[in-house]
Amino acid sequence: MGRKLESKIEIEHLIKIYGDRPHVALQLFREGKTRDDILHLTNQVVSIADISLKINQGELFVMMGLSGSGKSTLVRCINRLIKPTSGHIYIDGEDIAHVNEKRMRELRLSKISMVFQQFGLFPHKTVGENVEYGLKVRGIKPLLRRQKATETLALVGLEQWANYFPSALSGGMQQRVGLARALATDAEILLMDEPFSALDPLIRREMQEELLRLQKELHKTIIFISHDIHEAFKIGDRIAVMKEGKIVQLGTPKEIISQPTNDYIRAFLQDIYDSKAILG
Ligand SMILES: Nc1ncnc2c1ncn2[C@@H]1O[C@H](COP(=O)(O)OP(=O)(O)O)[C@@H](O)[C@H]1O
Ligand SMILES: [Mg+2]
Repeated sequence: MGRKLESKIEIEHLIKIYGDRPHVALQLFREGKTRDDILHLTNQVVSIADISLKINQGELFVMMGLSGSGKSTLVRCINRLIKPTSGHIYIDGEDIAHVNEKRMRELRLSKISMVFQQFGLFPHKTVGENVEYGLKVRGIKPLLRRQKATETLALVGLEQWANYFPSALSGGMQQRVGLARALATDAEILLMDEPFSALDPLIRREMQEELLRLQKELHKTIIFISHDIHEAFKIGDRIAVMKEGKIVQLGTPKEIISQPTNDYIRAFLQDIYDSKAILG
């Protein structure tokens, strides 16, 4: 079914092209045409332009880049909400770019969970029911899943809110529920697509701390998307900086600061220097 590997996730030569004729565009891409050329010639969007990377078990890996750089497309390929045009995504050695939809549903219920920017909670289910949902779909008995939901809500500090509807909660609390829901299935991999971007700055910082605290306990493999270099540097073990569907630089925050590969990275870093200057 797969092959042996040390990394939790291995992405090899991943390409995703949006449009109705992706394979025409893929051919042009392989001939060396640029993203812009291909857009003009075929009206197809090269969204992931040949990405390879490895993510380790227990790593908090940040994908950073400006809007439109392909971050969401990449994580959606990893849980196969989007089917890649070409390439491989090995999770524990299994190439999920090529497994069938049934197997993929199993994986989404057991091994991979996603946390969304707009929380994605069911408004007409209680907080507890939202957290239980993945377990219910998996056929776990009511008593057992309620117990798991209570435990997981306690983990994010919301155990007393189980019987409320999401609308009674603040944005930050709703995203804690989103996080609890993702954690309740015991998924080993968390995909987080700008999960804190909709939150106020102070709450956002609190949530970053909370995630770091949880991660110390849980050791998940996390892919966290952010367009914010402050956030990326604060929480990322390693960071991949994306531009136009490619990885421009990959490294620890320390490596990126000490050896930025080009001006695109330097422009991001300037943001950090500027805010330090303001703070004195
Ligand atoms: N469904 C789609 N159809 C066509 N192009 C898309 C679609 N979704 C995203 N794109 C394009 O793919 C590129 C990457 O988008 P996205 O992955 O959403 O970037 P990010 O999450 O970094 O903002 C952008 O140029 C975007 O316009
Ligand atoms: Mg996005």
